[in-house]
Amino acid sequence: MKLPDGPRIPPWLETIQLIVRPLEFFDELGERYGDAFTLGDRNNSPVVYLNHPQGIKEIFAADPNLFGSASPIHVETIVGKHSLAITDGELHQRQRRLLMPPFHGERMRAYGQLICDITEQVMAKWTIGQVFSVRSVMQEITLRVILQAVFGLHQGQRYEQLRQLLGSFLDAVSSTLKASLLFIPALRWDLGAWSPWGQFVRLRQQIDQLLYSEIHERRQSIEASRTDILTLLLMARDDVGQPMSDVELRDQLLTLLFAGHETTASALTLALYWIHYLPEVKRKLESEIDTIRTDADPSFIARLPYLTAVCQETLRLHPIAFQTNPRKLKAPLEIMSYQFDPGTILVGLTYLTHKREDLYPQPTRFHPERFLTRQFAPYEYLPFGGGNRSCIGMAFAQFEMKLVLAKILSYWQLALVEQRPVKLVRHTVAVAPPNSLRMLVNGQRQSQKVLSVL
Ligand code: HEM
Repeated sequence: MKLPDGPRIPPWLETIQLIVRPLEFFDELGERYGDAFTLGDRNNSPVVYLNHPQGIKEIFAADPNLFGSASPIHVETIVGKHSLAITDGELHQRQRRLLMPPFHGERMRAYGQLICDITEQVMAKWTIGQVFSVRSVMQEITLRVILQAVFGLHQGQRYEQLRQLLGSFLDAVSSTLKASLLFIPALRWDLGAWSPWGQFVRLRQQIDQLLYSEIHERRQSIEASRTDILTLLLMARDDVGQPMSDVELRDQLLTLLFAGHETTASALTLALYWIHYLPEVKRKLESEIDTIRTDADPSFIARLPYLTAVCQETLRLHPIAFQTNPRKLKAPLEIMSYQFDPGTILVGLTYLTHKREDLYPQPTRFHPERFLTRQFAPYEYLPFGGGNRSCIGMAFAQFEMKLVLAKILSYWQLALVEQRPVKLVRHTVAVAPPNSLRMLVNGQRQSQKVLSVL
């Protein structure tokens, strides 16, 4: 076996760095070791991080059967062992075939109106002079969107309860300190409802109860005409004609809820930050949005070039999921002339690929124009990963980002409360902008054209 070089530091110190300051740690390692480096136990499941496009390309192009899932234990703790994010092999491929259609093409576009309506309902609460936490508001929008798209739950007691519980559940695992309880099993002590792990366990039980009640009720009378994802999953049958069990359904629903709203909320927050941090970007975007005709539909808005470039650049500079999901080798594999044994865990380090000067000149600059003048290959630009484990919500998340941004910018004049650099913090498996990032509602825009369109 020939592994890339890497630091020789105690495992506990490595774990702490990865939990507390992952991006700074990767910056240091990239500076020192370049295109690839190894962490973890070199003799037993070493973890190899690759940021060179050739390495990423070879991982994405390799036979999927070579890899098993190596999702960390805390992911399973949150979403359950049947989750698409955990399974591998034929089962994983089958689950993907089942879950992907609603997030693509016509099925996905049908959610355009829903996204616009929800954004409008949330914006309707704003008043001039109000200051708000951008992340909280974006999270409210994306959580409502995913709850309605996935469950078809629009209102009612269960919807409200789920919304509140999921919000609290996320808070319970979001801070660095609390996240450590998930990362390090030895720290999971249930000392009652007030202890962090105890709170996590109780919230999970309450969420489960609501999910199972919804699943049971909906199983009783399946309405095939409904467009939500739960209906689709309830109707699905496996190769021998069996429906999904309650636990399987619960795990997939929770996976979609988690993967689908937190990441998109962070991406939206960061896009709004940069749009308002750089007046030139805001000016260009507003003039593009002002060209939207009153009879345009959401798909037209999703194709606007500068809006698209702003979303792409946001996820280039801040890939919220800063790495691909880890892939564990089942057989030997050679990548970039390194030879990896079975058991080696391979990770595409998106964060450093996106910061490569040879791909993205002046990489720390927010510069949407780079996406207007050049096309990047899937192994050069990979905020949604790639290969057989690529994000199933990629098209949906981008669609949602563009509609929410167009809607907000067409209606409101906003401003950052503090003009200072944004620093991302650890948020479960991803990173996120801090809740302290606030904006001020300065006034309404003169031309509120898009609002009548969408
Ligand atoms: C800006 C928003 C999002 C970002 C940046 C993002 C990013 C990612 C990344 C990097 C992966 C791992 C890919 C790999 O290992 O190659 C992933 C996987 C996944 N994402 Fe997303 N995602 C976003 C939104 C969504 C949405 C809206 C959904 C669905 C509602 C979703 C569902 C999933 C699922 C189910 C997986 C696991 C796929 C598998 O293992 O086969 N994501 N996402």
